[in-house]
Amino acid sequence: MSNHFNRRNFIGLVSAGAAGMHFTAAAPTLSVSAGVDGKPALLGGEPVRTKPFPGWPVVEDNDRANQKAVLESKHWNRGSHVDQFEEAWASRLGAKYAVATSSGTSALVASLAALEVGPGDEVIVPPYTFVATINVVLLHHALPVFVDTDRSTFQIDPGKIASAITENTRCVMPVHLGGNVANMDEILKVARAKNVPVLEDACQSHLAEWRGQKVGTVGDLGCFSFQASKNLNSGEGGAATSNNGDLIARVASFQNAGRGYEIDENGKLIGDRSSGFVYTRNGDNRRLTEFQGALLLSQLDRLEEQAKIREQNAEYLTSLLKEVPGIRPAEMYEGCTRNAYHLYMFRFDPEGFAGMSRKRFLEAMKAEGVACSSGYGRLNKEPFLETTYKSRGFRRIYTEKEIQLLLERNECPENDRLCDEAVWLIQTQLLGPRSDMDEIAAAVRKIQKHAASLV
Ligand SMILES: Cc1ncc(COP(=O)(O)O)c(C=O)c1O
Repeated sequence: MSNHFNRRNFIGLVSAGAAGMHFTAAAPTLSVSAGVDGKPALLGGEPVRTKPFPGWPVVEDNDRANQKAVLESKHWNRGSHVDQFEEAWASRLGAKYAVATSSGTSALVASLAALEVGPGDEVIVPPYTFVATINVVLLHHALPVFVDTDRSTFQIDPGKIASAITENTRCVMPVHLGGNVANMDEILKVARAKNVPVLEDACQSHLAEWRGQKVGTVGDLGCFSFQASKNLNSGEGGAATSNNGDLIARVASFQNAGRGYEIDENGKLIGDRSSGFVYTRNGDNRRLTEFQGALLLSQLDRLEEQAKIREQNAEYLTSLLKEVPGIRPAEMYEGCTRNAYHLYMFRFDPEGFAGMSRKRFLEAMKAEGVACSSGYGRLNKEPFLETTYKSRGFRRIYTEKEIQLLLERNECPENDRLCDEAVWLIQTQLLGPRSDMDEIAAAVRKIQKHAASLV
């Protein structure tokens, strides 16, 4: 992933262990120039910031009560808490159906199974994403076809999808990266024209919206992750969402060993949630536990409030950072009506910083008390892809020529550039008072002001 920090370790680096912490966005605002004039911390000066950022996860009494209830019920595997969470999540998103799974990866694997993606198929994916987006395609022995990134938004470039679709394309899988939203108008237009289903990887975008509709409900299927770093967290966990009963019944069946599920006359998803021995298709065990279901229910109580704080802080931070030459905050498409800000992403241009490398910028930011990440590497060029294509199973499905052609189609020059420019803050850094944003911006401005002495 990143040369510097990966997102999951990075959470520990920036956060205080803040059990029971309450957040407020209403704290007094510091002057933007606070600490900008002093010597850079990397050269021995005082850091702009010494406090840790808010901790994650937040643990309150409702979490404790729910966990105790599950423990004492002695019903620890999938049961009423998971059922309640599925209902709550579907209703929060305005989706007809949600099926909980053991992880975001599981939700994606089950969704691709529901779409019958398999050997010989191609799936359109972005290269700027977490590896799970690609892994799940390979797990089904299908081929990921990378479509270049729109650097301005960090999302899949919607204008380049049509030319990547072939007669083998079985699914288009946009990722709503970092809480921001991929251009769903364009993606749906292209995919519908070619009659290809759209699976939204919304693993990083809880409550984000496209034209007022929650992501994960815009395409045919949507997938969410509740892994520890995510804006909604049960340690591990996931969910698939859909308005299509047939598809969601297949997802439900897959996550429960292939047991039968169907939509009843009232439009409700019903099925065999017992450990009965009747199967309708090949499946897997991707079930969520009651502890996780209960944790998601209690954590869900705070999701909207936290989302609002992130949004307000991120918008304010953008207003500060967009004025700094060499810093370009990720833009949103006009149809993005809500950004979930799982990450706060911007591009760093050395030209605005006396030629300073991004690596040096990250070191200087860390010294100022604002740790940032360099984000993803070039996923489409990861050696593990070729290793997979050369594996026994893949060689039985695809000829050397087919793989060679695929590798030639996988050039993503814009994404290559983005991987050298990107800088991320994470969602917990947006959860404190507005004055934290002033300090983040002050750290950036201080480094810029003293760039010549830092390069
Ligand atoms: C874009 C994206 N897709 C898929 C996943 C997989 O989710 P999980 O880690 O819950 O399996 C993640 C999680 O990090 C993700 O960020």
